[in-house]
Amino acid sequence: ARRTRIHHLQQAKDEGRRFAMLTAYDQYTAEIFDAAGIEVLLIGDSASNNVLGNETSLPITVDEMLPLCRAVARSARSAFVVADLPFGSYEVSPAQAVETGVRFLKETGVHAVKMEGGAYYADTVRALVQAGVPVMAHIGFTPQSEHALGGYRVQGRGDDAGRLIDDALALEAAGAFAVLMEMVPAEAAAKVDQALHVPTVGIGAGPSTTGQVLVWQDMVGLRGGKMAKFVKQYADVRSIISDAAAAFRSDVQDGAFPGPEHSF
Ligand code: KIV
Ligand code: NA
Repeated sequence: ARRTRIHHLQQAKDEGRRFAMLTAYDQYTAEIFDAAGIEVLLIGDSASNNVLGNETSLPITVDEMLPLCRAVARSARSAFVVADLPFGSYEVSPAQAVETGVRFLKETGVHAVKMEGGAYYADTVRALVQAGVPVMAHIGFTPQSEHALGGYRVQGRGDDAGRLIDDALALEAAGAFAVLMEMVPAEAAAKVDQALHVPTVGIGAGPSTTGQVLVWQDMVGLRGGKMAKFVKQYADVRSIISDAAAAFRSDVQDGAFPGPEHSF
């Protein structure tokens, strides 16, 4: 299939269609999601807590992100591939953000970056876009600011809905090609989507955004433990893998594996 590009995502918004986005951090998931028609793949900084074993997204570095981005970009034939700018790699100045963003496009083959932050980062978004680095903005709950925000909390409730719209408009005016909203009331997200010309993407933002994104390990039930309210689990991959590992161990102990058909 043809490569999904920014203008296709814009067309979806203009024509009232939806698109799907999933995280991917490696070759096979990228191949599978790409072949399934997922329009956008995200190498999220959530690799920090979904791949690298950290508690939060804060510790992951650019150097840790780059190889994952390379794997996904090489494996996706049709999807539009977006990489998260990790915590500490863009906040210092627009110049720092451009240096980081250029590294991602140049060294990995991803097509765009995603960046957390509101209107305060409009100049940074503008600098990236002028440098040729497309930007998906990320507002609402921004996990890199967990400590500043006082934990995982819904953003944009009540009067704060106005600020969400102001942030989104400022980021769109700065050149963001899309605005992602995380954990905001469905009504506020719908207002933002209506206020914007560019497509929106939601995670815990209700049904009115142009796109929807999930972390793939949540989507297929690979991750154990309690899921956030906004997750829909489409499979129980953790059980499948767990059962396979137990069956393998049992076969090894019984001498049932390897059989003659596995031996030289
Ligand atoms: O890092 C991530 O996985 C994300 C999304 C789920 C929005 O930023
Ligand atoms: Na992220």
